[in-house]
Amino acid sequence: PMAPVHCFSVIDSTNQHLLERVSRLQSGESCLAECQTAGRGRRGKPWVSPFGCQLILSMYWRLEQGMAAAMGLSLAVGVAVVEALESLGYPGVELKWPNDLYYQGRKLAGILVEMSGSAGASCHLVIGIGLNLAMPARQGEKIDQAWSELRHVQPELVDRNQLAACVLLHLQRAMQTFEQSGLASFVESWNRLDYFAGRPVRLLMGEQEIRGIARGIDDRGALRLETDEGIKYYLGGEISLRRG
Ligand code: BTN
Repeated sequence: PMAPVHCFSVIDSTNQHLLERVSRLQSGESCLAECQTAGRGRRGKPWVSPFGCQLILSMYWRLEQGMAAAMGLSLAVGVAVVEALESLGYPGVELKWPNDLYYQGRKLAGILVEMSGSAGASCHLVIGIGLNLAMPARQGEKIDQAWSELRHVQPELVDRNQLAACVLLHLQRAMQTFEQSGLASFVESWNRLDYFAGRPVRLLMGEQEIRGIARGIDDRGALRLETDEGIKYYLGGEISLRRG
């Protein structure tokens, strides 16, 4: 059975809404909105979320394994959302480490996993997804990177309720699988969907820049980079393509 889904027209942030209520939520309980006035992206950046142009949703989960597992979890979420889209007839969506959805080299969706005060060994997680459906050009100008939208993948969009239900279902299933067997059962799928695999990339970690060829992820979700000094593994940082 599905947990409750709370729907809003306008909200500050669906992630924030759930984070404020963690003690009263059950795993799988979700929040959907048409528009956010204070949408949050990763690294403290705002997330542009104009009215009716995106799928904006968050799901609460109580993770018994505790916070250490959350990194791998965000990679599993990426796989779940791509597979939901595949099942609805949107092919060719890929992943950018750690957990952006990409379409033809442009960002289609972002994922933000936030945690709150651990209760003993378990912790409260809020998984937020913002997926571009059809953005007016004027709105797109506010986005600071190359972006795509679902109607580029397939001009005939499926019904938004159907899309939301499908993503929530895949997400819930993925969380259950993750709780039982961790990231391991997602690694193969993740690597199959990796947009950067085999491409020259630069990894930015604070002031440090590391260059190499992207070679997918390992069982912890670490980025595997083939560098001049051999294969190296990274758990943090931002990657981008190296051209020329
Ligand atoms: C990113 O920076 O790539 C992550 C973006 C995550 C945006 C979603 S929209 C629904 C949820 N609520 C938020 O405030 N952020 C996430």
